[in-house]
Amino acid sequence: TSNTMWGGRFAAGPDAIMEAINASIGFDKRMAAQDIAGSRAHAAMLAATGIVQTSDADAIREGLLTILSEIESGKFAFSTALEDIHMNVEARLTDLIGAPAGRLHTARSRNDQVATDFKLWVRDQLDASEQGLLQLIDALLGQADAGADWVMPGFTHLQTAQPVTWGHHMMAYVEMFGRDLSRVRDARVRMNESPLGAAALAGTSFPIDRQMTAQALGFDRPAANSLDAVSDRDFALEFLGAASICAMHLSRLAEELVIWSSAQFRFVSLSDRFSTGSSIMPQKKNPDAAELIRAKVGRIFGANTALMMVMKGLPLTYSKDMQEDKEQVFDAADNLMLALAAMEGMVRDMTANRENLAAAAGSGFSTATDLADWLVRVLGLPFREAHHITGALVAMAEKAGCDLPDLSLEQMKSAHAGITDDVFTVLGVENSINSRVSYGGTAPAQVRAQIARWKETLG
Ligand code: ARG
Repeated sequence: TSNTMWGGRFAAGPDAIMEAINASIGFDKRMAAQDIAGSRAHAAMLAATGIVQTSDADAIREGLLTILSEIESGKFAFSTALEDIHMNVEARLTDLIGAPAGRLHTARSRNDQVATDFKLWVRDQLDASEQGLLQLIDALLGQADAGADWVMPGFTHLQTAQPVTWGHHMMAYVEMFGRDLSRVRDARVRMNESPLGAAALAGTSFPIDRQMTAQALGFDRPAANSLDAVSDRDFALEFLGAASICAMHLSRLAEELVIWSSAQFRFVSLSDRFSTGSSIMPQKKNPDAAELIRAKVGRIFGANTALMMVMKGLPLTYSKDMQEDKEQVFDAADNLMLALAAMEGMVRDMTANRENLAAAAGSGFSTATDLADWLVRVLGLPFREAHHITGALVAMAEKAGCDLPDLSLEQMKSAHAGITDDVFTVLGVENSINSRVSYGGTAPAQVRAQIARWKETLG
């Protein structure tokens, strides 16, 4: 039997394989609430503009509410033959209210309908990402606050570079996730235009009110070009782009947690709530959540690339290729929300090992730069010469198997005769971090100022 939606032109129904490749109901049923909200707004507008009688529009709007509760309570029977969420809902509406159901699709197409539904769905995810990011930032601020002056090694190339503070390191991630937050908020502003009323692609001859439906659905305005409105998926790509960058940040932090929680580093211990054990090795406490975050990020990048590839060759306007947008975005969104929540939990629960951080901060000649700076400041040497002399002292200490503060004044003088006892005041890690008072530097006073600034911004 031919299709009830377009059967007029068809003598035969689709092959089973055709149905299998064509149907999207298996996944787009996740947009049921958005589809029904869009249809209810459309029906109200059709009545307000006199395109459909108020009694019919009321029956449609009531019927749609019934369908929503059927779906929410799991009583709705989705049909693959009905292809997608739009046709499943409309067919059920016909069962429920009969002939008036056929008037709902006046001045509308599945093209503007699906763009509207999907935009509403993505908009919810932007809002959820914002909440997830705010929670994670709050957890990081808590860690930063507790350890604003705890010293730890700062790294470049994963080699000891200069002492920094735990608070400073936590606040570096606050800056990253703060930019992610602003990206998500920007994307929401840009995407918030309603496609509804663009119809198939060219607009409609009916006297519709696009302002009214836009407003009812919380959009700022109707999209200005009907061709663009039905074929734009920028909003989904921007979500995936922002999600990818955020996921990259999550993955870097996850990687640090994996390293820091190892027996070789012991910078942090993760809580039991966010760790797993081993079935054979009794001593094990594994950072599985961090590892899974690191891995899930790959899926999010994959979704971004996949949708970019789907879109890049499509002539205007709608092509069925665009149906492949949803599964990628659904999967990326699910995994981003889970990763944000898991990271928040790990960060809130973890305990930084202050003693181990301090011990590591003092090793690896981490104050060599402070020594070179002293030679410049006190002896007036050019920095390049100071660098060379310090390098020689590091080599001397390395050979002697000690750290810089353990060298004698005589050994120091052998590298440069002008060196005095005063040099030892700059070789300690505490002195080092306290001296980095430049704006944005690691001195605890600077770190506390940044924590205060963020707390004020976030309210
Ligand atoms: N299931 C389709 C999608 O997700 C809905 C739009 C269908 N439009 C069309 N002209 N075939 O994209």
